[in-house]
Amino acid sequence: MLVSVLAVVAYLFGAIPFGLLVAKSRGVDIRSKGSGNIGATNVFRVVGKGWGTCTFVLDALKGFLPAYAFPKAGACLVEGFSAEWGVLFGLLAIVGHTFPIYLKFKGGKGVATSAGMLLGVAPVAVGVGFVCWLVTVLVSRYVSLGSIIASFAVGITVWVDPREDSIIVQSALSLMSVLVIWLHRANIKRLLNGTENRFGKKKEAAS
Ligand code: G3P
Repeated sequence: MLVSVLAVVAYLFGAIPFGLLVAKSRGVDIRSKGSGNIGATNVFRVVGKGWGTCTFVLDALKGFLPAYAFPKAGACLVEGFSAEWGVLFGLLAIVGHTFPIYLKFKGGKGVATSAGMLLGVAPVAVGVGFVCWLVTVLVSRYVSLGSIIASFAVGITVWVDPREDSIIVQSALSLMSVLVIWLHRANIKRLLNGTENRFGKKKEAAS
């Protein structure tokens, strides 16, 4: 029963569109600007660095709290409540972010929320993913390419990190990586035809 309640709360919490709300507070409908995505990268691009960073932190918290704090809260209420439920709650928060009930199921790409979730359940994988993301973005200046390569790296790392020993958790985290890469399919098309937004350039592509 408690698992079901926390699962629903995780989805509803993940579905809060912080990027949309942050941009709206500055008078911008983020869905009609830049890439059209409601994520931190587009808020950073269109509204500004501070607001983009704020969106990233809030979106990451949507993954971190369900993955890390919900199982701890569960353990306070029910003896033997497993920390592994955090993976399910984190995944549901990501699903909430990408398919939010408040926005007719049209949400973001799940990068910040996945990073927050991983921080709670697989810190080595998020470290590897962050390094891959940073190097790719610094070299190519494509945030989307960084996110795609980081997701790929996370999906591999969870299978080689000796601390990850649950096949269910490893499979769930790999599934998350595949979902995030699939959500970047419009970016992949733009990368292939040379129209993707480059960090530091004024030009903006349509979603
Ligand atoms: O986190 C999303 C990022 O990888 C791409 O964002 O706005 O360029 O589609 P965007």
